[in-house]
Amino acid sequence: MIDKIKELIAEAESFKAQSKEEVEAFRIKYLGKKGLLNDYFAEFKNVANEQKKEFGQVINQLKNTAQNKVNTLKEELENTSTDSLGNLDLSRPGEPITLGARHPISIVKNDIIDIFSRIGFNVSEGPEIEDDWHNFTALNLPEYHPARDMQDTFFIQTNPDILLRTHTSSVQVRYMENNQPPIRTISPGRVYRNEAISARSHCFFHQLEGLYIDKDVSFADLKQTLQYFTTELFGKAKIRLRPSYFPFTEPSAEVDVYWGLETETDYKITKGTGWLEIGGCGMVDPNVLTNCGIDANEYSGFAFGVGIDRIAMLLHQISDIRLLSENDIRFLDQFKSAL
Ligand code: PHE
Repeated sequence: MIDKIKELIAEAESFKAQSKEEVEAFRIKYLGKKGLLNDYFAEFKNVANEQKKEFGQVINQLKNTAQNKVNTLKEELENTSTDSLGNLDLSRPGEPITLGARHPISIVKNDIIDIFSRIGFNVSEGPEIEDDWHNFTALNLPEYHPARDMQDTFFIQTNPDILLRTHTSSVQVRYMENNQPPIRTISPGRVYRNEAISARSHCFFHQLEGLYIDKDVSFADLKQTLQYFTTELFGKAKIRLRPSYFPFTEPSAEVDVYWGLETETDYKITKGTGWLEIGGCGMVDPNVLTNCGIDANEYSGFAFGVGIDRIAMLLHQISDIRLLSENDIRFLDQFKSAL
């Protein structure tokens, strides 16, 4: 038996391989679970005592030889396959490029931009860090006005004039300051409010506000525009306008869309009523026009603002607003087909 093992050592030493598969076959033959070495190790107990020493030495030698051979061959093959273009197989399929998914907020935002661009609205943007004038004062919310409490604001501690915008109405102020009517613009963007985080509200979320200013703009124009918008976006158009109050519009209303109560998610996000509040609207207060350098005797207009997160939750049956900002890939991956 010892002679047989010595033969195997010689065989292992002279072994050559062209491919990784051959090396693997060699490894299995010698070192695998059911390989030669394990067989010999199992034989060890049957070997006569005076031969045990020599037997042990040769099988250890065989083991080392086989192991070294596998290591060197593997290394050699690795080097040749990367260094030499001779092994480059141009017919192999390419590395797959993994596709990303658009975020549901972006999907919905783009859809809404599309809908309004079809009726002549452009898109305007502004800074998320705002000053008091653009977020409040110009919008008919002077200092100490109680309606400032409607939106819990994050202020910059060292400078009370600087804050995180609470709505994208601030962008509309900037737009009016720089453009004369006719104005038709929508302003999508992230806004911040110091609110407790729950399944339904977050301390930051996304709004899209619209502004239309021209001669003789009426409340009927506002209603029709909202009707068009909800029909295009949801495919169902039952809306209701509830009288409300905003300092920058007069009269003002809240916009509700009727969605129904078909699924558990519908139930959750509409608090069991079937109606979902998607935003506010109204006729722009003449004081706001004046503040922004537009002649309030000549022009009138309407404004509205909707919450993109709520709409995304409704359209994609998302039951918790926090999912929208947690960056969980298992959640985001589900929007691959919704580009
Ligand atoms: N800016 C208001 C808000 O964030 C929404 C709104 C916009 C209301 C335009 C009326 C007109 O709550």
